[in-house]
Amino acid sequence: MGLLEFNDVGIDLGTASVLVYVKGKGIVLREPSVVAVEKLTGRILAIGEDARKMLGRTPGNIVALRPLRDGVISNYDITERLLHHFLKKVSGTHVFFKPRVVVCVPSGVTEVEKRSVIDATEEAGARHTYLIEEPIAAAIGAGIDISAPRGSMILDIGGGTSDVAILSLGGAVLSSSIKVAGDKFDESIVRYMRKKHNLLIGERTAEEMKIRIGSAYPRKEQLFIDVKGRNLISGLPQAIVVASNEMIDALEEPLQSILECVRTMFESTPPELASDITESGICLTGGGALLFGMDRFIAEHTKVPCYIAEDPVSCVAIGTGKVLENIDKFSSGAIYDYKRGDYFEITQ
Ligand SMILES: Nc1ncnc2c1ncn2[C@@H]1O[C@H](COP(=O)(O)OP(=O)(O)OP(=O)(O)O)[C@@H](O)[C@H]1O
Ligand SMILES: [Mg+2]
Repeated sequence: MGLLEFNDVGIDLGTASVLVYVKGKGIVLREPSVVAVEKLTGRILAIGEDARKMLGRTPGNIVALRPLRDGVISNYDITERLLHHFLKKVSGTHVFFKPRVVVCVPSGVTEVEKRSVIDATEEAGARHTYLIEEPIAAAIGAGIDISAPRGSMILDIGGGTSDVAILSLGGAVLSSSIKVAGDKFDESIVRYMRKKHNLLIGERTAEEMKIRIGSAYPRKEQLFIDVKGRNLISGLPQAIVVASNEMIDALEEPLQSILECVRTMFESTPPELASDITESGICLTGGGALLFGMDRFIAEHTKVPCYIAEDPVSCVAIGTGKVLENIDKFSSGAIYDYKRGDYFEITQ
């Protein structure tokens, strides 16, 4: 293995977190997609985990930004710096050769958005960039043999987008992406707490509630946690006890949107593929797959079995890695080689 190959990397450029896979090594970096910037000068103060700790807690002259909100690059310069920082970090003390990079983008991104991902990656030091759609990478990472003449369905619930796709013979037969995922869950919890409890909480607190007591399906045993915020009537700090079953109400709206997306896809699925999926089940990936009861919620409402992939948060990064390991063999409507300007076929 040459040094250049050693440096080839796969990147899951997610809204919530960035994962980097290095060929031959596996996942070597996992950090939040957050950057702390000094407002006046635009100087970057921290990137990744250090910056995340500052979210919602910064003094007036510092902002903690999430440059990839909603699964697209909303702040190009900052994204480029973020990629640069992480690529540099994984190259460590090695002389930094320009790597080939496979980057995962959400399905449904526009050409302009694709271009900006490619530009940011090149600016950050990549020699050649391949783009792969999120549901394809997720499916490969979940261990699904997507080249088989058999339909499989993947639902990736990330931070910014939920991507659902039906895959067969190496490509996506149908795919759709909605901007409803983990971030929307958090926002819904913030709204619920304001409406039901007159308590103003931050998004980080909401996320913590989601992870600890969030539920898409009733739990056998109720959980309770103390939630601290600011009472909207008195204006003073307050702590209240919140029960897990309240979270089902709080999350109703985004959960219904995701369900609707899956249902709509089934309506246009050819019957042969639909019957394959009824057998193999819907595979859930992404951090949102970890919301308690997500699999049961989807299964119960679609009457199709549903299972959570092993290590759902890493599936996309593992998928980009598998593609990287086989870059010369792989490909499809799934991978876009921007230099050649065309899509290849997957022949796994
Ligand atoms: N145990 C958990 N329960 C519920 N949600 C969780 C859990 N763990 C992580 N999450 C949520 O998963 C989301 C992040 O998932 P993931 O890392 O797959 O997103 P991403 O790939 O960065 O985003 P995207 O694919 O939309 O660009 C966050 O909203 C996070 O709060
Ligand atoms: Mg993702």
